[in-house]
Amino acid sequence: MRLSGKVALVTGSARGIGRAIALAFCAEGATVVVSDVGSDAGARETLAALTAAGGKGMVEMFDVSDPAQVDVGVKNILEAQGKIDILVNNAGITRDNLLLRMSEEEFDAVVRVNLKGTYLLTKTVTRHMMKQRYGRVINISSVVGMMGNAGQSNYAAAKAGIIGFTKATARELAARNITVNAIAPGFIRTAMTAGLPEAVQKGFLSQIPLGRFAEPAEVAELALFLASDASSYITGQVIGINGGMYM
Ligand code: NAI
Repeated sequence: MRLSGKVALVTGSARGIGRAIALAFCAEGATVVVSDVGSDAGARETLAALTAAGGKGMVEMFDVSDPAQVDVGVKNILEAQGKIDILVNNAGITRDNLLLRMSEEEFDAVVRVNLKGTYLLTKTVTRHMMKQRYGRVINISSVVGMMGNAGQSNYAAAKAGIIGFTKATARELAARNITVNAIAPGFIRTAMTAGLPEAVQKGFLSQIPLGRFAEPAEVAELALFLASDASSYITGQVIGINGGMYM
């Protein structure tokens, strides 16, 4: 049990990569806080899957981009669990458009959820982690933040911003025994990618040396490594998981 006795908060875990991470952490003994804004039913399904597998957890719903909701959410978790050892900033959205057509709303929404949400959660949760002199923060960036992608200037900017934020906070928090790392996934099979046109999906596939898309569980394995003591000397890193799409 690699996460025995640990409490983990995974944002955006009502489905997709977040749910897979929640399940993987729970299977290694962590108590997992399932959190989302979209689907209460989805969050409850994740919790039901955790408990069915013999794990422990709770649901705490909040919008990662709303400072007041983040404050209340984290406070409720600390009251219920006493601590947070692991934070996974996974909640994310896309609003794709070519730059000339991209509205300010589309730009702001993507930066607000992906980048500002990561800032708000990290600030609120690490205040507590600093006192306990232990923490693992894992930020979900994207291959798009490293190589760009036409039609995703907002998302690429937000995900590249997460990389800079990861490195700066890793330096600030290292003395308190808190590591901060980013995962940059390539093309993972979730609701986020299912909606892409077939031609776009084929275009991506042709750029992937391993010749296939990944399952959320494969990203969860990397998150588990970064959350566990096996990664104790790794901080400020961006680890790609993209089938070789970007090297
Ligand atoms: P998804 O769309 O299946 O799940 C994202 C979850 O985040 C949803 O449950 C949604 O309700 C939640 N969420 C959205 N806005 C929120 C907010 N303001 N507050 C709280 N929760 C919110 O997406 P997926 O694919 O599981 O993505 C998870 C993360 O991985 C995202 O950050 C995404 O950008 C990133 N990613 C995904 C890739 C993929 O190929 N699927 C590739 C690279 C990165």
